[in-house]
Amino acid sequence: MSQAHDELRDLVRTIPDFPNPGIQFRDVTTLLLDPAGLRGTIDALVASVDGPVDLIAAIDARGFAVGGAMATAMGAGLMLIRKDGKLPGATIAEDYALEYGTDRLAVHVDACAPGARVLLVDDLIATGGTAMAAARLVERAGGRLVGARFVINLPDLGGSAKLREAGIEVRSLLEFE
Ligand code: PRP
Ligand code: ADE
Repeated sequence: MSQAHDELRDLVRTIPDFPNPGIQFRDVTTLLLDPAGLRGTIDALVASVDGPVDLIAAIDARGFAVGGAMATAMGAGLMLIRKDGKLPGATIAEDYALEYGTDRLAVHVDACAPGARVLLVDDLIATGGTAMAAARLVERAGGRLVGARFVINLPDLGGSAKLREAGIEVRSLLEFE
C-alpha cells in the first residue's frame, strides 16, 4: 500500500465499545478534520469513478460530508438520503438492520429524474444494510445506480460482498477488521 493510503488510514480513530459493548467504532471524523486527509480522501474517491454521474446519493449523516464534496468536485447534483422523519416533502422509505440496531431511511419521491445515473456514497460500509436500503430507494425513485463508494469498508461484516452480489460496483479506500 502507498504512503498516502497509510496516512489516510492512520487518521481514522478507533473507539472501542461504541455505541454498544463489543463494537469497534471506526471514526471518520478525525480523517475529515485533517485538511490534507480530507482533500486526499475526496480526490481518491473521485478518481475511482469511471463513467458519467448525474447525482451523488449521500447517506445521512457522515455520508453527506463525503458525498457533498464529491458532488461539487464531479459537477454532479446531490440527493440526500435521510433518516426517516426529516424530509419535508412526500417521501418513500425503507427499513434496514444495522450492526447495532434497526433504522429507516427516506428520500423525496421526486428526488431523481427518471434514468438519472446515481452514485451512492457513505463514509462506511459494514453489514451493508444501510447501503442496500439506500440502493432500493434510488431505484424506487427512478434512478439508475452506477456504483457505490465508501471511505471505509469493514469486509468481515459482509456488506461490500452483499452489494456486489446484487450487481452493484463497489469501491472503498480503507479497510478495517
Ligand atoms: C453508520 C455509517 C453507515 C452505516 C453502515 O451510520 O455511517 O451509514 O452505519 O452500517 P451498515 O453497513 O451495517 O448498514 P449510522 O447508522 O451509525 O448513522 P449516522 O451516520 O447517523 O451516525
Ligand atoms: N457503522 C456500522 N458499524 C460501524 C463501525 N464499526 N464503525 C463505525 N460505523 C459503523
